[in-house]
Amino acid sequence: MIHIHKYEKWWIGLTILMLVAFATLVGVAAFSKGFQVPEPWMRVDPNTVKDSGAFSDANLGLHELAPGKYEAYLLAQSSPWRFYPSELSIPVGSTVTFYVTSVDVQHGFRIQDTNINLQILPGQVSKATYTFEKAGEFPYVCGEYCGVGHQGMFGKIVVK
Ligand code: CUA
Repeated sequence: MIHIHKYEKWWIGLTILMLVAFATLVGVAAFSKGFQVPEPWMRVDPNTVKDSGAFSDANLGLHELAPGKYEAYLLAQSSPWRFYPSELSIPVGSTVTFYVTSVDVQHGFRIQDTNINLQILPGQVSKATYTFEKAGEFPYVCGEYCGVGHQGMFGKIVVK
């Protein structure tokens, strides 16, 4: 029988307790509070996604589904580095479901002061919903380094 010092036992016990506590918290967050890793909502062909349908020029931007309920289609692109569109305007209290995809490389879509932070990959559509309870400007930025123009990839949501 190996002798384990009393303090050593306490630390082992504390470590096990912390692991159990963290696993429990992650489990509660995931299964009862709905915190989930965003999954690709849909697959698309990045070479043709602009040509027709949801991510064509005519459809990009906001669509009002019902009073205070919107969906927004956004496209991320390099050279020039930008989001299409780069500004969205909604009334305060609106719930917006964002659909975002890339035509070339990996980008990010993070809306400041919200919990929206998505990876934007060519070939898949990322989806997230948020309710804008406060008026103001909510900048969105690219959160993944995507080339020399990365820092220029931003836009804003104007809530009034
Ligand atoms: Cu797009 Cu960084």
